[in-house]
Amino acid sequence: MGYTFTNESYHILINQAGGLELLVNELNPSQIIVLVDENTENFCLHYLISELHRPFKTISIRSGEANKNIDTCKFVWSSLIKFKADRKTLLINLGGGVIGDLGGFCAGTYMRGIDFIQMPTTLLSQVDASVGGKLGVDFDGFKNMVGLFQNPKAVIINTDFLKSLPYKELLSGYAELLKHGLIASQTVWEELSSVEDITTLDFDRVVHDSVMIKKTVTEEDPTEKGLRKILNFGHTIGHAVETLSFETDRPLLHGEAIAIGMIMESHLSLQKGYISDEEYQNIKAAIIKLYGNKAKSLPTIEQITEIMLLDKKNNNGIIQFSLLNQIGQGNFNQEVDQVALQAALTDYIQ
Ligand SMILES: NC(=O)c1ccc[n+]([C@@H]2O[C@H](COP(=O)([O-])OP(=O)(O)OC[C@H]3O[C@@H](n4cnc5c(N)ncnc54)[C@H](O)[C@@H]3O)[C@@H](O)[C@H]2O)c1
Ligand SMILES: [Zn+2]
Repeated sequence: MGYTFTNESYHILINQAGGLELLVNELNPSQIIVLVDENTENFCLHYLISELHRPFKTISIRSGEANKNIDTCKFVWSSLIKFKADRKTLLINLGGGVIGDLGGFCAGTYMRGIDFIQMPTTLLSQVDASVGGKLGVDFDGFKNMVGLFQNPKAVIINTDFLKSLPYKELLSGYAELLKHGLIASQTVWEELSSVEDITTLDFDRVVHDSVMIKKTVTEEDPTEKGLRKILNFGHTIGHAVETLSFETDRPLLHGEAIAIGMIMESHLSLQKGYISDEEYQNIKAAIIKLYGNKAKSLPTIEQITEIMLLDKKNNNGIIQFSLLNQIGQGNFNQEVDQVALQAALTDYIQ
């Protein structure tokens, strides 16, 4: 089927055969360079070869968050220079969120900015990382510490890429779809949370619905002054749990940590009197059914708080949460005390 929508400044195409070629013809770049990692080189590059009908060069970096850093950027910038990339060069970022964030950052800064297209190949990057204009890399142990806001020329999504994605990665990305439902659409939440086997979903449509939510929110508030903060639901605690898990022998994938964060932050919403106990139990049961209960490997509230205080989204040392007013409606700038946090954790591990 497929969808196209146009932002104020860029196109988002979902499963539109021929869309890439049309766009590239319109942009008429002096040359095309494609950024991949070893997995997207193996599984996804053939699609470009058959869709583009133009010569291009490839820059390949090692996969994984550990490589989302300035050293890899230096390699990409040097490669662009080696390929004699000029201001009219187009960079296509073919990969997950690491390729999109890092490649977009390199394109946005090379010669003060060259055109780039995001071609996200993981579920997480299709519904989240590729839309909204946030680019950057990790620095000095802090996630996304150096970066910029800049939009691509287009986001081109092909849900066929998901077929080669390991199930664990698919499930990790699915947490962001669930989040989009919880903060913006009860219908989306009800559909996605009741699915028995996520691999049987009609990704063409569910990716579309989820991208629409991210796009609508980020267009309203591109630089996160207010409304965009609702997208952080599950992420204040989730990020801390994710960070702490890296020091254990059981590191969590982003979505696994966000799943825990969404349950605990739903409990905070319950304690604030925003959602009912029935709604909370519904959220908790649905998420645990998909992600299991990780109670045994959870850190303490003191450890979680210590990490949360380092988050760059804090305002003068006050941790601001994005919670739920109800299923399908998020809020932001919510303050929470230690007692409430402890109660949320205690309920999760029981
Ligand atoms: N910019 C934003 O708004 C935003 C939002 C959310 C997340 N992010 C960032 O996104 C990153 C996480 O993204 P991710 O989960 O896509 O991780 P990722 O890019 O590391 O991809 C996960 C793994 O899947 C592999 N892979 C990618 N596509 C594949 C395919 N089609 N088939 C087989 N393997 C494939 C990759 O090589 C990698 O090993 C984080 O760095 C996070 O900070 C950014
Ligand atoms: Zn996330």
